[in-house]
Amino acid sequence: MEFVAGRGVRPCSCRGVKRTIDHLEMAGIPKRYDACHINNFKATTTLQRQALKFATTFAHEFPATDRGLLLMGNVGVGKTHLGVAILKLIAERGFSCKFYEFGSLLKEIQSTYNPQTDSSEISVLSPVLQTDVLLLDELGASKPTNWVMDTLYHVINTRYNNKKATIFTTNYFDDRVDARHEILEDRIGVAVRSRLFEMCRTVIVDGVDHRRKLDNQVLSAV
Ligand SMILES: Nc1ncnc2c1ncn2[C@@H]1O[C@H](COP(=O)(O)OP(=O)(O)OP(=O)(O)O)[C@@H](O)[C@H]1O
Ligand SMILES: [Mg+2]
Repeated sequence: MEFVAGRGVRPCSCRGVKRTIDHLEMAGIPKRYDACHINNFKATTTLQRQALKFATTFAHEFPATDRGLLLMGNVGVGKTHLGVAILKLIAERGFSCKFYEFGSLLKEIQSTYNPQTDSSEISVLSPVLQTDVLLLDELGASKPTNWVMDTLYHVINTRYNNKKATIFTTNYFDDRVDARHEILEDRIGVAVRSRLFEMCRTVIVDGVDHRRKLDNQVLSAV
């Protein structure tokens, strides 16, 4: 609280700033993505411009829209960059946000899993189920065992039923190019893929692997 002459006591103006910092810190965005923002995502192709537009629109319209994004694309094209940039904008507006890499989340859930009760600690699961916006990075990256499929179904179906917004990134696509290549449905199951059609707008992100570009920049600077 602060005292303002002539106006009495009112909530301190730094509270808004503190709330923003708290929400950003609590989102658990890895340090690697500190510099990722909407305004430094380079969009040169039509699909990149479209992805940037959907990301910006979602970030500004939330919570009026609960339809999240499923960012699909090859490695290094900026899917996590875009997802993180959205999360930052929404956290800055005071909403609770969480970043989870799919494999790490499964490990956390598994570490508290009790086969006798067939359940995991609520302290691990509740932020995932309840946060206003969840960014689930690398969807489909973990080997789809029965336990992985069941756990993923539980998380997604709970958020689906409660109309909670979720952003996903994945390296898997929907079209089967040939019998050797797995598609997203193979990795996450038919029921989860079906729910994602309703929960998210599917957005293809194309382009080159920016990590290679960064490597070339380092080399050319030597
Ligand atoms: N379009 C872009 N504009 C600016 N920087 C980009 C762009 N695409 C990628 N980058 C940068 O390249 C690096 C890799 O991007 P990112 O981690 O978002 O890729 P990704 O699509 O999530 O890849 P993966 O599928 O391997 O996880 C990051 O440092 C990111 O900031
Ligand atoms: Mg990524």
